[in-house]
Amino acid sequence: MNYKIALIRGDGIGPEVVNEAVGVLDAVARKFGHQVEYVDVLMGGCATDAVGKSYPDGTAEKCRACDAVLLGAVGGPKWGADKPAEQRPETALLAIRKDLGLYANLRPAVLRPAMADACPLKKETAEQGIDLMMVRELTGGIYFGKRDKYQTEDRGVEATDLMAYSEKEIERIGRRAFELARLRRHKVSSVDKANVLETSRLWRSVMHRLAEEYPDVAYEDVLVDNCAMQIVRAPGQFDVVVTENMFGDILSDEDSMVTGSIGLLPSASIGDGAPGLYEPIHGSAPDIAGQDKANPIATILSVAMMFRYSFQKAAEADAIEQAVDAVLAEGWRTPDIAKPGEKAIGTREMGRLIREKIENR
Ligand code: IPM
Ligand code: MG
Repeated sequence: MNYKIALIRGDGIGPEVVNEAVGVLDAVARKFGHQVEYVDVLMGGCATDAVGKSYPDGTAEKCRACDAVLLGAVGGPKWGADKPAEQRPETALLAIRKDLGLYANLRPAVLRPAMADACPLKKETAEQGIDLMMVRELTGGIYFGKRDKYQTEDRGVEATDLMAYSEKEIERIGRRAFELARLRRHKVSSVDKANVLETSRLWRSVMHRLAEEYPDVAYEDVLVDNCAMQIVRAPGQFDVVVTENMFGDILSDEDSMVTGSIGLLPSASIGDGAPGLYEPIHGSAPDIAGQDKANPIATILSVAMMFRYSFQKAAEADAIEQAVDAVLAEGWRTPDIAKPGEKAIGTREMGRLIREKIENR
């Protein structure tokens, strides 16, 4: 096959981790006989520096002309909350999600076998394993609702962020969750705050309707505060967890920590038709940028998700995941996952080792 892939290298450690992921992509392409072409797309703080805005005109069109998008990370203290919206990297991230219609954000949290002792939970809990798929709604809710900030007569300045969801938006993300559960362990946990929020009550009623269409999938409602607790108490109980945008943002960071390191977790953002966007869930980590210290595994595993979800190439995805597991099993660690006193390797060395495993299969 021929694949055209947009690369948004971004800020901080973004360019370093994307480099290693591209190396792995090339190795897989050679092994399996694919041709890959790359298109660099400027977005994030680096774009603000270069052209004055984080989301340059034509960014979405450039991505749409490709089969998939690989993103490193965007953001950094240089382009902080005090800067105008069009200069902030986060603005670009939200815009590209919306413009490409990437409403489903898949964030798998897996405790990889070689990393079991990195799990901060009790040993008995870790032994039960963690393999859950967070399905986060990504283009609606409070992230995209109307915002306002205004002067009142008697309460000083007031600000509001509107959280809105339509049945349509809930149904399409719900379907994704049920379909994914059919390929996994046939269980969906839908997370909401239906004891307080009207959007959650609508969410719940749509999910219940869907659950009837998928009688082979076990279904449960979980309140978001309880879910946060269950993730640290017994994460092994979850298979597919589906939730709205902001709950998913918060819970997915929590998930990443119980699996050992945020440096290990990939993500896929997909819609209907437009190219999917693949990125590590960690940020740009400006404190370690350019020092060959970042863990490239989350980005490399994002490439595996690209093969699985955008290209329907499970064998290629498996090859990448197995290579990562093999390198971890041999004991190689980047600083974020090394135990105190343990010798760590750099970003490039980790990338090279994973590439080699693929080449020598
Ligand atoms: C994420 C990030 C983003 C989000 C930020 C950077 C806007 O935290 O992808 O989880 O909140 O969606
Ligand atoms: Mg987040």
